Amino acid sequence: MSLHGRDLISIRDLSREEIEDVLAAAKRMVPYAGGAKVSHSLDHKIVAMAFFEPSTRTRLSFEAAVQRLGGSCITIADASVTSMRKGESLHDTIRMLGSYADAIVIRHPNEGSARLAARASDRPVLNAGDGSGQHPTQTLLDLATMQEAFGTLSGLRVVLLGDLKFGRTVHSLAHAIALFGSDIVLTSPPALGLPAQARRQLEHMGAKVREQADLHEAIRDADVLYVTRIQKERFGDESEYRRVAGSYRVDASVLADAKPRLAVMHPLPRAGEIAPEVDSTPHAVYFRQAALAVPVRMALLDMILGGRKGD
Ligand code: CP
Repeated sequence: MSLHGRDLISIRDLSREEIEDVLAAAKRMVPYAGGAKVSHSLDHKIVAMAFFEPSTRTRLSFEAAVQRLGGSCITIADASVTSMRKGESLHDTIRMLGSYADAIVIRHPNEGSARLAARASDRPVLNAGDGSGQHPTQTLLDLATMQEAFGTLSGLRVVLLGDLKFGRTVHSLAHAIALFGSDIVLTSPPALGLPAQARRQLEHMGAKVREQADLHEAIRDADVLYVTRIQKERFGDESEYRRVAGSYRVDASVLADAKPRLAVMHPLPRAGEIAPEVDSTPHAVYFRQAALAVPVRMALLDMILGGRKGD
């Protein structure tokens, strides 16, 4: 089914075939993302960036993607300078943005906010992270990174390390890993495990899911180590955060027993959970992962909103 005019709120909104189409299109976008070729796909189109939470990669790569496709952006980067400070609702803000722009990219601290935004506007809405819910466009670039590293998304063993309770990137990614038939190993502090319902959904899809508390054991036969930051901003109580802060760290000693081709991934930002010494090892793909954000988001925007093709 065509993605034209559709919302992307959850990775579940895309079939396996649609994900494969986006990844194939992202490969074709690489020369456009680097400026070697010029696209007019979004000529005269405006995309609204509605970011009510901090972001570096997601907002700026979306803005770069729009501009590389010939479009332009209007941006809320700080909710405190909008009329929401005067009490305007998210519903009204989004409904109004839909009359200024052709599509809306939203990040918001509340789970379900992107779904609410999609109901408020008849423009396509793309979820750029809703609280602890979903981050589907991150998953697409995560998959592009794995595909580039291994040539396949099937038959891999993927360790999800860190905050699996609040981390929206792993909530989206775990579904996609299951969809493509790779195995999932869950490694987290006990208080930050994957919610039971999310695990049941993966098992219902036929995924092999197991827990392995010991990081050294977990990565021994892993192909991918997907590291996440503890989501400090989601804790209601600072003392609870302090109890788990710093409880895992990937460094050279952790990687000593890893397969030579282990890919260490991270959606970034990192906050101490990957030592800088890992950056210079062949395992580190997290900056490549961040770079792929532009061609992947270009491909998605082109499929949802695009018109005239490149010269
Ligand atoms: N990966 C990611 O969502 O990064 P930002 O929070 O910087 O957008």
